[in-house]
Amino acid sequence: MHDHLPHYITRHKNLIDKELQQHLHKLSVPNQLKESMLYSVEAGGKRLRPILMMASFESFQNGVEKVLTTACALEMIHTYSLIHDDLPAMDDDDLRRGKPTNHKVFDEATAILAGDGLLTYSFEIVANDPMLSEHEKVEIIKLLAQASGPSGMVAGQILDMKSEDQSISLEALDQIHRLKTGELISFAVHAGAYLGQATKEQLEYLRTFSTYLGLIFQVQDDILDVVGDPDKLGKPLGSDEGNQKSTYPKLLGLEGARQKKEDYIQKATHALRKAHAEESYLLVLTEYLANRDH
Ligand code: IPE
Ligand code: IPE
Ligand code: MG
Ligand code: MG
Ligand code: MG
Repeated sequence: MHDHLPHYITRHKNLIDKELQQHLHKLSVPNQLKESMLYSVEAGGKRLRPILMMASFESFQNGVEKVLTTACALEMIHTYSLIHDDLPAMDDDDLRRGKPTNHKVFDEATAILAGDGLLTYSFEIVANDPMLSEHEKVEIIKLLAQASGPSGMVAGQILDMKSEDQSISLEALDQIHRLKTGELISFAVHAGAYLGQATKEQLEYLRTFSTYLGLIFQVQDDILDVVGDPDKLGKPLGSDEGNQKSTYPKLLGLEGARQKKEDYIQKATHALRKAHAEESYLLVLTEYLANRDH
């Protein structure tokens, strides 16, 4: 490792921002749809999933060109999930990435379609990626569909909605977090390592690592919804409480949630050591994500 983490993050964020722009600006689609898709992608966002994917790839190979398009596809799917997550029928939020939510600026129909557009376009860019072999494309498309679709993020979102106003067990909450947030984070780590030609054994340990990382990420998101700084977060506090969501702070209290997070950090770093990837940026990124303030 030669870069300090903040520099590493900025450098990689710039790469992904540029690549996203290139993919989106060349789209020839109705104006309002394009504006609405661009609005949410360019509203900002930390780009943590693409950065994780690049860090995972760089644990095994030099340079990130090979994963740039796949990383964009992942960020498009993540952004689509946020547009839909904020809709009145879901979390009904008015602010995202420091700006009014997509349906507030455009209208609900446009926001739904912008999400649909980002989702499907993500698969198109992977299918057309000249950096990947045919075999790699099929594998990436399969993994991305599994992570984002009805057995991944989408499943987590419906379980999250169905658990509003309910008291659920910690195991059930873990399962929701694993699906709604963990699957896309796991994909980031897994796809990066797969394209970097990690061994089967390394992929297996990284799967365990990324499962804990996904949980860490969502526990911190839940904590920040209670005690974060809305200006830094770019989204309002108290959305979970307002919607009677099941969260770690609600089930365990803030201190309990923090302890749970520490426990997951231990487990994540243990798995990372087993994968012999503890020298990579994945280790420092884990600490960073666990303690982020936005
Ligand atoms: C927010 O994700 C939604 C969750 C899954 C918790 P991020 O915190 O990564 O949001 P952006 O992309 O930076 O806006
Ligand atoms: C969002 O979880 C997960 C997905 C969008 C898939 P949250 O509903 O907690 O995310 P925020 O807090 O609105 O960003
Ligand atoms: Mg939600
Ligand atoms: Mg939400
Ligand atoms: Mg949240």
